[in-house]
Amino acid sequence: MEPLIVANWKCNPKTKKEAEMLLALVKEGLKGEKGAKVVICPPFVYLSDLSGLALGAQNCFWEEGGAYTGEISVPMIKDSGSEYVIVGHSERRKYFGESDETVSRKLKAVLKEGLTPILCVGETQQERDSSQTEGVLKRQITLAMNGVLADDLSGFVLAYEPVWAIGTGNPCDQKEAGKMLLFIRKVLTEIYGSQVAGSVAVLYGGSVNSKNSASYIKEAKFQGLLVGGASLKADEFIKLVKSAV
Ligand code: PGA
Repeated sequence: MEPLIVANWKCNPKTKKEAEMLLALVKEGLKGEKGAKVVICPPFVYLSDLSGLALGAQNCFWEEGGAYTGEISVPMIKDSGSEYVIVGHSERRKYFGESDETVSRKLKAVLKEGLTPILCVGETQQERDSSQTEGVLKRQITLAMNGVLADDLSGFVLAYEPVWAIGTGNPCDQKEAGKMLLFIRKVLTEIYGSQVAGSVAVLYGGSVNSKNSASYIKEAKFQGLLVGGASLKADEFIKLVKSAV
């Protein structure tokens, strides 16, 4: 399976013009590159204006619509042309109070609409220091996927993003990340059996750049990458994708 490389632009760039320019440069640089599937996740307001690469949203609301000021529902995201939705990113959990329970509701809303969720899990520095990493991953996966059926898992994407590695320039060593990949597969196997668990794509995210991207795919055997900061510089992102394939 070709690696899935997801660009999470977070709350950037500031204008539609810059967003269009960044996408145009990335598209041009990756023209003819067949070895990877690239998904761009810009802020909601740019989704309808961008095209030419697969798109994803960075968040969603669990209801389809109604009196929920400020929220964006999955049918709206689908209508904007997106195929993917990031769910449970650690910045949402940390700054916007998302819990395992709300993450689970969002996840199910994405599946119901037939879009592909990218479920993010990962431990904080403090949890890692107190040897809670495996417990945290197991809890996050089990609670988020509570009620999600094996039949819903075709194309499902999970991202291992150690919180301490996000945006710090301090990526998780590929050997340690590889161990967590095996642990995540074990948890999925306990819930769904090995055949179904094996069909879930697991990505690594956290300070990925053009120098380390290959090691997570080729050595640690992740099925792809979730890229923040490095996806905002077209040259760096193009190099990152090319070295990962
Ligand atoms: P980073 O962010 O690549 O800037 O560390 C990754 C993410 O938050 O998805």
